[in-house]
Amino acid sequence: MTEREKTWTDVIAVNELEPKDATPVTLGSRELAVFDTTEGVCVTLARCTHGAANLCDGHFDGTYIECPLHQGLFDVRTGAPKAAPARIPLRRFETRVRDGMVQILI
Ligand code: FES
Repeated sequence: MTEREKTWTDVIAVNELEPKDATPVTLGSRELAVFDTTEGVCVTLARCTHGAANLCDGHFDGTYIECPLHQGLFDVRTGAPKAAPARIPLRRFETRVRDGMVQILI
């Protein structure tokens, strides 16, 4: 069996992003959070790994997203959990911007 080759896939136009915030995007069966960070655009799955709250409803400071349900904290640049009760990293996607579109490698 061969593994399917990953391809760059359009997620959202850059000019549709919430500036300096999280923008929810549904891509097929995936719920994504697109973050306009201080270091560029980052994309993760939108659901918190602790209790499945939608992180796009949380507070975003440009680097860290605070879960709206139990205030778990994640670094969206890496997906790493930074404060309890969050313990499992967020799934993060390799991300780039091309021709005004945010793209992820899937
Ligand atoms: S659901 Fe996010 S910290 Fe509990």
